[in-house]
Amino acid sequence: MRKQFVAGNWKMNLDQERSLALAAELRKQVGSVEDVTLAVCPPFVYLKGVAEALAGSSIVVGAQNMYGDPGGAFTGEVSGPMLLDVGCRYVILGHSERRHVLGEGDRLINTKVLAALEFGLKPIVCVGEKLEQRDAGRTEQVVCGQVESVLHGVGRRQMASVTLAYEPVWAIGTGRTATPEQAEEVHVLIRCLVADLFDADVAEDLIIQYGGSVKPENAGELLARENVDGALVGGASLAAQTFVPIVEAARSTGKD
Ligand code: PGA
Repeated sequence: MRKQFVAGNWKMNLDQERSLALAAELRKQVGSVEDVTLAVCPPFVYLKGVAEALAGSSIVVGAQNMYGDPGGAFTGEVSGPMLLDVGCRYVILGHSERRHVLGEGDRLINTKVLAALEFGLKPIVCVGEKLEQRDAGRTEQVVCGQVESVLHGVGRRQMASVTLAYEPVWAIGTGRTATPEQAEEVHVLIRCLVADLFDADVAEDLIIQYGGSVKPENAGELLARENVDGALVGGASLAAQTFVPIVEAARSTGKD
């Protein structure tokens, strides 16, 4: 059985004081939850402080991006070993804002996925179609193409450390959520593709999160779908008041 995985993507929000206060509040409210995997992904500069504030709790810390090389002349970039050094366990890769605002493509994302795995970080790899691609009936082609590209060269055993996040671009930060049926449909497509690329066991064990305007009001019905194994939460992860109910919804789906 797959364990639900809820991760908070804080994006470029909060300041140091509010990051630490949120970490402390989450620790108090859900810091010993074991039936759901929990992670928060603060901006780089707050990673160490948040990791320290959560040390010894069941909430782990992830970064929002990394560069594939272990070190060297890459001004402005942060490497996997640096992330490990400050207590990170996960790293979000290929988020749609990196793809569409910063111009990252599948090839670059793939090198980062391979590097993260080599360094011992667990990548949360994002895929998702834009609205015009969905409207043109190209969702399957776009999403499956991205999955195939970003997983190129990943070994069967390494897949145990990979989480995929289906985040339709039109649902991110827009308040417009995919219906549970739309999410389930794409999650099934992804799982079938992973079965083809690897095998049925890898596909069965793979955690596929849904992301895009997940909030307390819709988390329950999304997470209840058979192939939705958790959520990558943006806006609603910025306050315990909205994040904790999503964690509780994941706990009560009974899909541990
Ligand atoms: P949102 O962001 O929940 O604010 O839509 C999700 C994400 O981008 O990961």
